[in-house]
Amino acid sequence: MLRVAVIGATGAVGQEFVIALNKHPWFELVQIASSERSAGKKYIDALRDPNTSLLKWHSKEKIPDTVREMVLNRVDEINPKKLDLIFTALESEDAQIIEPKMASAVPVISTAAAFRYEDDVPILIPGINDDHCDLLNIQKKNRKWDGFIAPLPNCTTTGMAITLKPILDEMGLQSVFMTSMQALSGAGRSPGVIALDIMDNVIPYIPKEEEKVQVETKKILGKFDGNSIKNAPIKVSCTCTRVPVMDGHTETVFAQLEKTALPDKVKEAMINFSKSVSIRDLPSAPEDYIIVHDDPTRPQPRIDREVNDGMTTVVGRLRKDTVFENGVKYVLLTHNEKMGSAKGAVLLAEMFKSKKII
Ligand SMILES: NC(=O)c1ccc[n+]([C@@H]2O[C@H](COP(=O)([O-])OP(=O)(O)OC[C@H]3O[C@@H](n4cnc5c(N)ncnc54)[C@H](OP(=O)(O)O)[C@@H]3O)[C@@H](O)[C@H]2O)c1
Repeated sequence: MLRVAVIGATGAVGQEFVIALNKHPWFELVQIASSERSAGKKYIDALRDPNTSLLKWHSKEKIPDTVREMVLNRVDEINPKKLDLIFTALESEDAQIIEPKMASAVPVISTAAAFRYEDDVPILIPGINDDHCDLLNIQKKNRKWDGFIAPLPNCTTTGMAITLKPILDEMGLQSVFMTSMQALSGAGRSPGVIALDIMDNVIPYIPKEEEKVQVETKKILGKFDGNSIKNAPIKVSCTCTRVPVMDGHTETVFAQLEKTALPDKVKEAMINFSKSVSIRDLPSAPEDYIIVHDDPTRPQPRIDREVNDGMTTVVGRLRKDTVFENGVKYVLLTHNEKMGSAKGAVLLAEMFKSKKII
C-alpha cells in the first residue's frame, strides 16, 4: 500500500478525497491536514460550523470510520518524506506556497490552479493526454525536486476536454464555443455561494473561470514534443454561469470540425474512444468513460451525475449545427467533485502507479 495524505481534507473537494480513498486497494490515507482553524481537532469536530454546530458534511455517503476520529494536522506537521504521495485540495493562493514545499520531496496531485499554466507542468486527465506525463521528469529536473506537482484541470474543463478528444483525433477541430451551467459545490466552502444569491437565480459570471477553461483546453489537447507542450491550434470561447444545482456541471458545446462529419459519426468516435480508453482497467475508472444518449431529455444533473459514481461524462442532444459549416453541438454533464476533482485525482494517481511514476 502507498501511504498518502490529503491537505485541505475538510473542504468540498477534500471530503470527496476522503470518500474516494476509503478502502482503496492501493492507497492508505495516513494523514490529513487543513488550516489552522481545524488543526488539532478530530475530523468530525472540524466539520462542525463553530457558530451553528451544523455538520458541514455534504456527501450522501457517511464519513468513513477510519477518518472520523482522525486528528487534523497543521501543514507544517506533514513530513513528506514519510509519504508516497500527497493530494491537495487548496485554494490557489495556499497551494502556491504549500505545494512546492511538499513536491520538493514527494509527488503532489493538486486540484488547484496555482501551477497549471507553468511551462514544465502538464494538466493531466487520465486517458486523454497520458503522454504529457513525461513532462513531469523535466519539471523534477528543472526544479531539482524529488517529487513533482501534477494538477488536474478546472472541473469545467474536464468534461469538455474528454468529449473533444475523440472529435479532435477523428475529425480535427477548429473552434469551440461553450456555455456552462455550473453547480454550487464547484464554488467550494470558502467562501462558497450564499443561498440568498443563488436560489431562484442564475449568476452569469464566475471570476477567472472562462479564461481557465479556454487556456487549459488547448494545453490538454496539445502535443508534447519531448520537451514542451505545443497548444492545440483550436479557438475556444466560453461563458461560465452558476446555477442552483448541487453537484454536476452542465455544458452546451458547439464544435466546428475540420472535416464534415454527421452527428452519428461524432457519436461513434466518442463511443469507440470510451471503449478503448487507456485507463479503463484502473480501480476508480468508470465502466463507461463517455455515454452518449439519443434521448433528447438527457443529460440532466439529478438523473445522470451519479452514473458510474460520477466518473462518466454524459453527452446528449448531439446534432448538426445550422449556422457554421462542419459544426456539431451537444450538451454534456460532468461531476465536478468526482471525475472533475477528487476521484479524478485518485484515478490519476492510479495511472501514475500503473506507469511506475509513483
Ligand atoms: N469544488 C469543486 O467542485 C472543485 C472542483 C475542481 C477543482 N476545485 C479546486 O480545488 C481546490 C479546493 O476547492 P474546494 O472547493 O474544496 O475549497 P474549500 O471547500 O473552500 O476547501 C478549502 C480547504 O483548504 C483548507 N485550507 C484553507 N487554508 C489553508 C491553509 N493555509 N493550509 C491548509 N489548508 C487550508 C480548508 O481548511 P479549513 O476547513 O480548515 O478552513 C479546506 O479544507 C480549489 O483550488 C478549487 O478551485 C474545486
